[in-house]
Amino acid sequence: MDGAQTGYGTGTDLPEVPYEAQDTREVEQLLRALEDAAKRSPPPAYTVRRNRFSVASSKHGSYVDSWKMNDWDYKRKDLPTYARGLFITRDEHKQPSIVVRGYDKFFNVNETPDTWWDKIEKRTQGPYEITLKENGCIIFLSGLADGTLLVCSKSSTGDRDDGEISHSRAGENRLEKQLEQLGKSKQDLARDLYARNITAVAELCDDSFEEHILAYGPEKAGLYLHGINLNLPKFSTYPSVLVQDYARQWGFTKTGLILMQDIGEVRSFLESAAETGAYEGHDVEGFVIRCRMSPKPGSVPYQDYFFKYKFEEPYLMYRQWRECTKAIILERTLNIKKHQAITQEYLKYARDRIAADPGLGQGYCKNHGIIQLRNDFLAHMHLTGAEAARFELVHSEAARAKVTKDVIFVPIATIGCGKTTLAIALGHLFGYGHIQNDDITGSKRPPRFTDMVLDKLKTHRAVIADRNNAQRHERKQILEHVERKFLNATMVALNFVHDDIDAIRAVTHSRVLARGDNHQTIQAGTEMSKVVGIMEGFIQRFEPLDASRPPDNGFHSVIDLSPTAGSRANLEVIVTQLHKLYPNFVKEIPPADAMDAAVEAAINEYTPVLRHKIADRGKNNSPSQPPKHNQPVKQAVKKRPLEYMGVHVATKEVISELERTFSHQKGASYRFFEQLQQAGRVQSHFHVTLMHRASAKERPELWAHYSKMHADAEAAAAATGSVSVMPPEIGKLEVQLERLVSDARVMAIVVRLISQNANAKADDGETQTWTCVNRVSHITVGTRDDSVKPKESNDLLVRWLNEGCTEENGIADVVFEGKPTLHGVVRGVLSRHV
Ligand code: GTP
Ligand code: MG
Repeated sequence: MDGAQTGYGTGTDLPEVPYEAQDTREVEQLLRALEDAAKRSPPPAYTVRRNRFSVASSKHGSYVDSWKMNDWDYKRKDLPTYARGLFITRDEHKQPSIVVRGYDKFFNVNETPDTWWDKIEKRTQGPYEITLKENGCIIFLSGLADGTLLVCSKSSTGDRDDGEISHSRAGENRLEKQLEQLGKSKQDLARDLYARNITAVAELCDDSFEEHILAYGPEKAGLYLHGINLNLPKFSTYPSVLVQDYARQWGFTKTGLILMQDIGEVRSFLESAAETGAYEGHDVEGFVIRCRMSPKPGSVPYQDYFFKYKFEEPYLMYRQWRECTKAIILERTLNIKKHQAITQEYLKYARDRIAADPGLGQGYCKNHGIIQLRNDFLAHMHLTGAEAARFELVHSEAARAKVTKDVIFVPIATIGCGKTTLAIALGHLFGYGHIQNDDITGSKRPPRFTDMVLDKLKTHRAVIADRNNAQRHERKQILEHVERKFLNATMVALNFVHDDIDAIRAVTHSRVLARGDNHQTIQAGTEMSKVVGIMEGFIQRFEPLDASRPPDNGFHSVIDLSPTAGSRANLEVIVTQLHKLYPNFVKEIPPADAMDAAVEAAINEYTPVLRHKIADRGKNNSPSQPPKHNQPVKQAVKKRPLEYMGVHVATKEVISELERTFSHQKGASYRFFEQLQQAGRVQSHFHVTLMHRASAKERPELWAHYSKMHADAEAAAAATGSVSVMPPEIGKLEVQLERLVSDARVMAIVVRLISQNANAKADDGETQTWTCVNRVSHITVGTRDDSVKPKESNDLLVRWLNEGCTEENGIADVVFEGKPTLHGVVRGVLSRHV
């Protein structure tokens, strides 16, 4: 890679060297922001920490402060700086200066919304400098004003108290050797760094000091210079060819570099390298891509920008091997997440070797011999790293062929998808067992349900665990419960894919309506309005399967089904897939007429064995007996009370107005909005509360008025026989968006309510008016986290009215240009509780 083309031309044709002096005012500002965040009360949502180090060798600055935040905070949009590695000092005149400036925190492709490929493709600009991600520890080098060289690791400098050699000391030792060979001194380097106002960023890769995942024997060990940053608050970095040139001048090892102009080319290069996990025949950890980015090309200038592309495998497998080996040496619990089979093989080998050679274990825990042991094992298996990583796939095919029984089917569904129908049909075809959650009453249902499934498995080859499992925590519960009690079960997800929600609603509503009272809990014949509410609840709470992470990566296989396709079609998919996945479990696919008959029987013959009252679902009640001949049972229905009366506006319109406003307003409100969006905290439905039942005592007549309007509208809807998931509409209003107000906790839109026809008479002859009891009518956009309730908007807006926007109260506001008006629909919202 050293010989790769530069793209900037060759030899002397280097780009201009960037230079910018520090502006003390800017540094002071940054320092203030950091100090303020570190001691603010109440503290901000992130944590800023300062660590002071004395610089003994320096006559000049007697200390440097390292500033850092928690790793996970760097995804936030409201930090004072994104520099990873930031050391600041003050001189004898108390003037602050940045001594070390690391890169702005950068992320892996797909790690944050900003690093999704489509964003990278749209927002970044070449040349793209692809550098090898060297695998060691980061070292920053910088010069102080008096010619002292400062060597820092990620966030510390100096020696350790325990006498062990620190990272920064190891870096300094290495540097001394390289400078000695050139006949230069540390002071020479310090002066040059200081004059240029830069930090040199290098990776110390040296197995004799500390082994990481990739091997750096004596011939490869060194300080790999990979970047040079200007010591400025903003992130500004040298082009890689200049970094390489600097490495040449000062005896650093060069970091491999490839230059590309086109992002499409970059992506295909990275993806093909990822297939092998190696570059030019060597295992590598990944690449860092340096380019320029604008969040809005055309209007916002481009700035220096890094993202990374880390290889998944075999790197992750190696890391797991390393951790597992240490666990067996230190007799800790093993945590084998992936690559089970090959890791078990590796550990067998490692155990034998460690038992035969105790020195190996001791060295290993100090990070010596890791790579040798791994390579010995691969040689012993006649496998390359990449082949070992793929071993699982091949092996698991063999493992699947061994499955002949002990299969548990776990539907992921909502009401009416056909779980029970499919379970009965599978029972007809293959005699599988079937446990229905709806047949269980009383407390602690989940463990009892799972125990019943496991019990059934003693007498049946497979069991359908008939429950919706619509949310991840339910899947987690059953997967973990089974794993604890019965390790060898094969867990198969029957995944009813919820993509077209409207179509799913239509199909399941009509099926459940047609089913009438023929169900334990959902008795649509008598309680349709409630039933529709329950169905909608499941749809709203549905969390789609994500097999890439826990808990859903705990399924051995996933069979995708369509809620709208019909049970016959779904049955065929299940059977065909099972035959393919587990050929010795479903040895042959039954004939079509057998499948027809099984589904028909399931649809026509089924009657539940018990019935619950809806309100008692999940409570410890005794079930009523099933009705004879499917006669509907009349039950007393208790109504849910009104929670609040609100004016509802379309989500899409509110979001598009917010985005329009933010397209030319990029202040604190924008950053908070982005934070809410990224954290998924922007409300999915927007409304203006006219009155909540919490204020019923203060305004009893008004509450009675709204309650009556709601009850009348419900009665009118019932009279027409209409069934809807939404409470009935009781009026229309225009909602004018005026201002967006926020602090660090909550964001709300101040609105003006405009009656469409102020003189219109309501049905009862009264003039229709809509009173809002809140001091400021508003729409809550979102809150920072669950601890901040939406009603806090009221407090925010009162403070805003009284105090305005000040630095102390942290309130910001933005005007909606042109004061857009949205259509609002007035309707009541019911309490979740009866
Ligand atoms: P819950 O137990 O309420 O969560 O529903 P479920 O997923 O178990 O659905 P179920 O199997 O009970 O199916 C709902 C209704 O639709 C039943 O009355 C079934 O007989 C009927 N049904 C199931 N599959 C089909 C189908 O393919 N076509 C038609 N027309 N009806 C079906
Ligand atoms: Mg069912």
